[in-house]
Amino acid sequence: MNPQPGKKLILGNWKMHGSRASAAPLARSVVEFMRPQAPHSQKACAVLCPPTPLLAIVAPLLVNSSVALGAQDCAVQPSGAYTGDVSAEMLKDAGCSYVIVGHSERRSLHHEASELVAEKAGAALRAGLTPVICVGETLVEREGGKAEEVVANQVSGSLPVKASPNEIVLAYEPVWAIGTGKVASEHDIAAMHKLIHDTLLHAKGWEPGSVRVVYGGSVKPQNAKGILATPGVDGALVGGASLVAEEFCSILSAVL
Ligand code: PGA
Repeated sequence: MNPQPGKKLILGNWKMHGSRASAAPLARSVVEFMRPQAPHSQKACAVLCPPTPLLAIVAPLLVNSSVALGAQDCAVQPSGAYTGDVSAEMLKDAGCSYVIVGHSERRSLHHEASELVAEKAGAALRAGLTPVICVGETLVEREGGKAEEVVANQVSGSLPVKASPNEIVLAYEPVWAIGTGKVASEHDIAAMHKLIHDTLLHAKGWEPGSVRVVYGGSVKPQNAKGILATPGVDGALVGGASLVAEEFCSILSAVL
C-alpha cells in the first residue's frame, strides 16, 4: 500500500551489499531517525530493501516502526521447483510490503524484458506487495534521441495486467545516472516524469498524479532537496547513499 498522499516515498536499495553485522545498526539508525514525532516523518515514508538473506535480520527491527521493508526482485510463480528463486508470497511472509521489479541491473545483467517485469509486478500484487517498477534509458539511447520512446515503451510494457494506480510505484532511473555520480538535470527529470504520467494516462486511463513516480540515480544528500522538489517527483530510489545511515537520513530530511 502506498503512503498517504503528500508524503515522499524514499526507498533504500542496498543491492548486493551488507552483512548481518552491518544491517542491524543501519536499520536501527533509520528507524530511530524516522520516529513519529520528528518533522520529516510527517513528510516522508522510508523503505529499506536489503538483499534477501538480510530480510530476516531487518524485519524484526522495523516492527512497530514507520519504516517499511522491501525486496529487490521476485519470481513470477508463487512456489514450486524454481531453484534459486524467491516468490512474492515468501517476501510477504518475510515482512515485506514492497518489491523492486525491473531494475536496470536485472534488465541488463539478467536479460529481463518488460513482459517479464509486468508478470513480476503482477505476482507482487497477487501477494499483497507494492511493486516498484523501474524504467530508464541508457546513455546510448539518450544520446541517440531515443530516451522518451524507450521509457514510454518500458512503462507501457511493464505494467501488470490488473492493477489500480495506488497499488504500484514507478521509478524513473536513467541507467547512466546509476552509481555514476551523474544526475539527470531537474529539467530532464521533470520532463521524463511528465512523459511517464502521460504514458500511464494513455495506457491505462490513470490520471496524472494517481501513480507515484520516484526518481533514482545518484541521489545524494547534496542533490536530494532539489530532486525531491522537482515537479512530478514523488520520492527517490537511493542506492549507494542508502548504505550509509547519515547519508540516507540526510536524504530523508531533504523532504522538509
Ligand atoms: P545509486 O543507485 O543511487 O547508487 O545511483 C540507484 C539504484 O540503482 O536504485
